[in-house]
Amino acid sequence: MPAPAQPQARFAGSESCKSCHAVAYAGWKQTRMANIVRDPKAHPEAVLGDFIHPDPLRTFSLDEVAFTYGSRWKQRYFTKKGDDYYPLPAQWDVKKGRWLPYHVENGTDWWTPFYGPTNMDRPTGPTCDGCHSVNYNIETKQVTEWNVGCEKCHGPGSLHNAHPTKTNIVNPETLDAVSGTDTCIQCHSQGRPLDKSVATPTLGHAYDWPVGYVPGKRLADYWKLEELKPGVTNFYQFADMTGHKNRMQGNDFVQSNMYHREIRCFDCHQVHSNQNTANLVAVGNALCLQCHTKKNPAGLHGTVSEHTHHAAGSEGNQCLACHMSKIEQTIKENFVSAHTFRFIAPAQTEQSGIPNPCTSCHKDKSNQWATGELKSWTTTSPWRVGQ
Ligand code: HEC
Ligand code: HEC
Ligand code: HEC
Ligand code: HEC
Ligand code: HEC
Ligand code: HEC
Ligand code: HEC
Ligand code: HEC
Repeated sequence: MPAPAQPQARFAGSESCKSCHAVAYAGWKQTRMANIVRDPKAHPEAVLGDFIHPDPLRTFSLDEVAFTYGSRWKQRYFTKKGDDYYPLPAQWDVKKGRWLPYHVENGTDWWTPFYGPTNMDRPTGPTCDGCHSVNYNIETKQVTEWNVGCEKCHGPGSLHNAHPTKTNIVNPETLDAVSGTDTCIQCHSQGRPLDKSVATPTLGHAYDWPVGYVPGKRLADYWKLEELKPGVTNFYQFADMTGHKNRMQGNDFVQSNMYHREIRCFDCHQVHSNQNTANLVAVGNALCLQCHTKKNPAGLHGTVSEHTHHAAGSEGNQCLACHMSKIEQTIKENFVSAHTFRFIAPAQTEQSGIPNPCTSCHKDKSNQWATGELKSWTTTSPWRVGQ
């Protein structure tokens, strides 16, 4: 006798969680992840780009915009044709307040050969929407909801809604560390799907997101991280395999010893709150010093100043300044932070051109100067940073 079929949980939408989890809901609602995709007719306040003054790059009007996309560094615009959305050819640079062209050039993203040359040949379903919605259905092109809803990280919730227990909803906190961080890497990475039956890269049909994955499963069964090669500098990576473009947090972090020691993205980021920049659980050195204290085996050996060789209060005394270089390009002249947490030595800049923190800040000094200074530090090995 076959076992009776278990009821399958379905996606119910974030609104269904609100009544019982008011605190998590209210916090999440304020985050960027909950607000990346916006219909400008319902949310005129979401529009950041200048649609009033003419600009040769902006060849479309606000009437053509079905969705705005993003708010921190860049805002892109989707138009609707039939069942599909397409990216319009200009994007707004939020920090500099200017229009820039938007077109994914051939030979950059791996999927460009599978699409025609113009934005209108590249529907956003396969290239974007899996990461910017919950439950994008590749057959019907329908979603349960736009944006990073609760169930994108917690899995489908209909059974939990009906009979809430701890066992019928995924909590990334109680998963093993790999599966826990996979709930973030599903979107925060560059890679390619593995499942040939749903995502064979053929013309007009190359998916850039892990089709079929849901939280609790092993992402590696659905997704292959972009292959990184030592010594190569290209669209995706620097020569030391640190990301070169945005959305490489997962590719970076799996290289860190912190990942190896089961630190997860959400040990540093609280995704139900936007109280701090980037949803951080604490700001400045306090974030890192939660663990990197003298008493911890992972800790610094002396004081922070002894480690950094900069006075307390100096910009050069900030952990992020040396361990999270802002070198991963999100748009022209705008960068997000590396998540390998490695210190990039000035000698590596000499070898491959990857920017290092010392001379990125001390712009008037040479790499040789910085290397000389580092070699005089007795807190680090000259074999690692001096040559
Ligand atoms: C009818 C009320 C109710 C609704 C609706 C509800 N929950 Fe819950 N949820 C609970 C209760 C009660 C618990 C604690 C269960 C326990 O301790 O056994 C819980 C626990 C959880 C947990 C923690 C599990 C753990 O490991 O501790 C998560 C995560 C969660 N809910 C997410 C959601 C999400 C996402 C939704 C919407 C899809 C949702 N809940 C809808 C009542 C609800
Ligand atoms: C981007 C991923 C993500 C989204 C979106 C998300 N969560 Fe969570 N949630 C987590 C992670 C990671 C944890 C475990 C770490 C923690 O507690 O912060 C968690 C923990 C929880 C818990 C248990 C701990 C607590 O805070 O009570 C509940 C309940 C919960 N989430 C509900 C929700 C609800 C409801 C929504 C939508 C309104 C939501 N989450 C959206 C990732 C997410
Ligand atoms: C469904 C895809 C998806 C998942 C799953 C996801 N993210 Fe995100 N995340 C995004 C997108 C898209 C943005 C950009 C939002 C914007 O700038 O408007 C983002 C932004 C962020 C930011 C920056 C917020 C800010 O204010 O600038 C942090 C931090 C973050 N995510 C952490 C996490 C963590 C930690 C997890 C796992 C618990 C996670 N994300 C899971 C898609 C996702
Ligand atoms: C594999 C998942 C994934 C895919 C596919 C994807 N994105 Fe994203 N996107 C993210 C995540 C995660 C972030 C935030 C992290 C970052 O930018 O480093 C982001 C950030 C963005 C931002 C910046 C938001 C801001 O506030 O500055 C925009 C705009 C955006 N995506 C648009 C797109 C478009 C357009 C496509 C399709 C051509 C696309 N994304 C494809 C996951 C994805
Ligand atoms: C050890 C702490 C730590 C861990 C672990 C961590 N982050 Fe971050 N993350 C940070 C800090 C600090 C910033 C803010 C950098 C800044 O403001 O310059 C940040 C920024 C971000 C941003 C905003 C873009 C930017 O660079 O400012 C995103 C998105 C993000 N992290 C996603 C992730 C994801 C996804 C993971 C796991 C794969 C992760 N983070 C793991 C500390 C961490
Ligand atoms: C939740 C605890 C925790 C937090 C928070 C934390 N770390 Fe770590 N860190 C660790 C552990 C554990 C290791 C691994 C130590 C080992 O294996 O020897 C580590 C290792 C490192 C290393 C060694 C190199 C590597 O491969 O990663 C660096 C550098 C580092 N952390 C920097 C930081 C910075 C910068 C921050 C703040 C943005 C931070 N850490 C926040 C726990 C933490
Ligand atoms: C001025 C630059 C600079 C600053 C600021 C800085 N570090 Fe470092 N850090 C280094 C260098 C250089 C190394 C050695 C790298 C190597 O050996 O490859 C290092 C190594 C480390 C390591 C691994 C070796 C060890 O000593 O255990 C950890 C962990 C670490 N730093 C954490 C931190 C934390 C936490 C902060 C902030 C409190 C911080 N660093 C601030 C330059 C810096
Ligand atoms: C984010 C900026 C920043 C970074 C990164 C940084 N420094 Fe500094 N550094 C400063 C500032 C500001 C001073 C001025 C004195 C002070 O505030 O401590 C300084 C002072 C110095 C001094 C003493 C004064 C001088 O100019 O001769 C040396 C030597 C030095 N830094 C070397 C380094 C080396 C080597 C690195 C890389 C490991 C580094 N710095 C990384 C900002 C930085």
